[in-house]
Amino acid sequence: MNSFAPLQNDTFLRALRREPTDYTPIWLMRQAGRYLPEYRATRAQAGSFMQLAQNPDLATEVTLQPIDRYGLDAAILFSDILTVPDAMGLGLRFVENEGPKFDRPLQDEVAVHRLEVPDMAKLQYVFDAVTQIRQSLNGRVPLIGFAGSPYTIACYMVEGGSSSEFRTIKTMMYTRPDLLHHILSVNAQATALYLNAQIDAGAQAVMIFDTWGGSLSHSAYKEFSLAYMRQVIGALKRNVDGESVPVIVFTKGGGQWLEAMSEIGADALGLDWTTNLAEAKKRVAGKVALQGNIDPSILFGSEALIRQTARLVLDEYGADAGHVFNLGHGISQFVQPDAVKYLVDEVHAYSRQIRGAK
Ligand code: CP3
Repeated sequence: MNSFAPLQNDTFLRALRREPTDYTPIWLMRQAGRYLPEYRATRAQAGSFMQLAQNPDLATEVTLQPIDRYGLDAAILFSDILTVPDAMGLGLRFVENEGPKFDRPLQDEVAVHRLEVPDMAKLQYVFDAVTQIRQSLNGRVPLIGFAGSPYTIACYMVEGGSSSEFRTIKTMMYTRPDLLHHILSVNAQATALYLNAQIDAGAQAVMIFDTWGGSLSHSAYKEFSLAYMRQVIGALKRNVDGESVPVIVFTKGGGQWLEAMSEIGADALGLDWTTNLAEAKKRVAGKVALQGNIDPSILFGSEALIRQTARLVLDEYGADAGHVFNLGHGISQFVQPDAVKYLVDEVHAYSRQIRGAK
């Protein structure tokens, strides 16, 4: 097994475990990305997004860039949720300005029945990146591993790319639910293996991104998204060498399902900006920690607005244990890098102040 340097800043892990911290830890979804000039330089060197993700040296470099620049409290593996369907043989390509595309989407019964849990050896480049990032972090902050939710990756697998109305997958859901359940069951098994291999490789917490669960009806969410996330979580390694490995679940647009989400075995729930943090905290009643939830577009505002809104979010949660500060969704490529500095500084300074005043 791997042996890694001891952790120097465990604030993020403590917050996920709902233990007291000196301040509120912060990291940002998509923190390694195109808004950073140093990311754009490394990506140009790699040639493409997938070549960057598949090269552990370069993936390590871009993972550490935002940590070096801002002093964030957690690093997140540089990769993508679509590596799993790629390993299933669907043929992933990223088309400039159009996003991800699959050459062989699952649009008929034959294709669906051919789908199998992939050999994890095909994803070895991800696990190598995890180990190398963890070594390079040298204990500075914890490393988050991640995967897409079974339903969210199914959206891309069935639609063949990004979609706004999800006509193909919803037609399958309402005409051949058996086919969709088959895909989701394979995805859930693959996702559990994938996250466990990331944990073995050195990930200290894992996050499930359910970006599209919020497009479902109330009952469909529970049947097609939540139930499969529960299966994944139930199969995860939750303890490594006496340290717990916390699990974060984020359904974008999932604010109305927090009570149900808090029952599936996750340690923390991610919230988008449409939910009030104080109310969410009451609703989950101390069962889980909360992560979020400033509107990512605040980063287009002035320094004063960014600082003021960060304080509002921190005041909503209050000084109790169990809050990880984050955006309500990924950072935009059009954000000016200094905006992130104002946010991180304000969260660190003001949250220390709230705790001091307690
Ligand atoms: O957060 C991080 O810094 C870690 C890396 C990360 C990426 N994608 C890198 C990436 C993570 C956690 C993801 C998750 C992901 N990928 C999600 C779930 C979270 C969310 O944003 O809702 C989804 C839906 C995807 C699928 C995906 N990957 C899309 C739709 C796109 C294209 C859209 C875009 O922003 O261009 C990607 C590409 C991608 N993944 C980029 C990055 C940094 C941009 C690639 C580039 O450099 O061109």
